[in-house]
Amino acid sequence: MAGPDTKGKARPRGAAVRHSLAVWYPLFRPALFALDPERAHRLALEALRFAGHRRAGVASAAPIECMGLEFPNRLGLAAGFDKSATAIGGLGRLGFGFIEVGTVTPKPQAGQARPRLFRLPGAGALVNRLGFPNDGATAVAARLRRRRYAGIVGVNIGKNAATPLGRAVDDYLLCFRAFRALADYLVVNVSSPNTPALRELEDPVRLEPLLAALLEERARDSAAARPPLVLKISPDLSLAEVGAIARLLRSLPLDGVIATNTTLGRSGLGGGATVPAGGLSGRPLHARSLETVAALRAELGAAFPIIGVGGVDSAATALAMRAAGADLVQVYTGLIYRGPSLVGTCLRALR
Ligand SMILES: Cc1cc2nc3c(=O)[nH]c(=O)nc-3n(C[C@H](O)[C@H](O)[C@H](O)COP(=O)(O)O)c2cc1C
Repeated sequence: MAGPDTKGKARPRGAAVRHSLAVWYPLFRPALFALDPERAHRLALEALRFAGHRRAGVASAAPIECMGLEFPNRLGLAAGFDKSATAIGGLGRLGFGFIEVGTVTPKPQAGQARPRLFRLPGAGALVNRLGFPNDGATAVAARLRRRRYAGIVGVNIGKNAATPLGRAVDDYLLCFRAFRALADYLVVNVSSPNTPALRELEDPVRLEPLLAALLEERARDSAAARPPLVLKISPDLSLAEVGAIARLLRSLPLDGVIATNTTLGRSGLGGGATVPAGGLSGRPLHARSLETVAALRAELGAAFPIIGVGGVDSAATALAMRAAGADLVQVYTGLIYRGPSLVGTCLRALR
């Protein structure tokens, strides 16, 4: 069972790695926070890659059935942390029930100019304008093929910055084909604010043909081999727009929705300091993500799978996400501020 370690008993190796990372993180955090945020992230990924060489999975006494998959627990790592799938094994050892890699684009790309990742420690927040730096579908697919982690891995897909919006569907199809047999589920990301015009794909007029093309492609697989297809939406949609997307989701054989990505809004930060341009995540996003999840749940009914993400950094915020209607919960920014102990904290709350 994923969860807190039992005092006095020998721990399995995964639990030992989890325990030592959780204990040491508060000591290492000041040193990591003294570094440029992107450099600190690269170091953390490298350490996790190193920690994940042995085969690992998350044993569970009470798995959760969602989207036709068996999740060992309700807590996942959100997209963007391990964009190119270099550290799945080590991340799996932290106790997550599922890990979402990406966003992956068809071709490798460098992303936007640096600096492009910023900490707002007083607000428990990050701002990023990374713009999907990743190693591209071929390299990421090769890593997924070699993975030793036995848990659930989702692949979040997007379009290259250089691809015109009118050709976006080609990029999503290329990624779908690259990962259809390697991903436990696939996420159509149309909600990142850092790829110019990407969010225009959230307009049902553009979204419907994009999802229809992916579903048509998926229908070529035998029923048993079809990966669940999930849409990830932004927190900056009005509730009317969320409603329109939910109605579209209900009309298609889509398997789930993730809410939310980062926000271009700046509420919850207080006045004063200038905030860099980019997508805001973490504590100031939480209320808006909850609202979006609740609106989706109201429109989609009790059975439609919803993954809630945005500002979860404690037992209370994880429970609030569940109460708003999320079946599964993801974290990213909370992990940066709270460290690996956040996984156990959330798992105990969500159990
Ligand atoms: C540095 C950074 C990079 C991100 N990259 C991606 C990405 O590539 N694709 C994506 O769908 N979401 C990405 N996200 C958004 C997260 O997956 C998540 O939806 C968002 O940060 C809200 O969760 P949080 O408040 O727990 O961080 C990124 C977030 C951060 C902070």
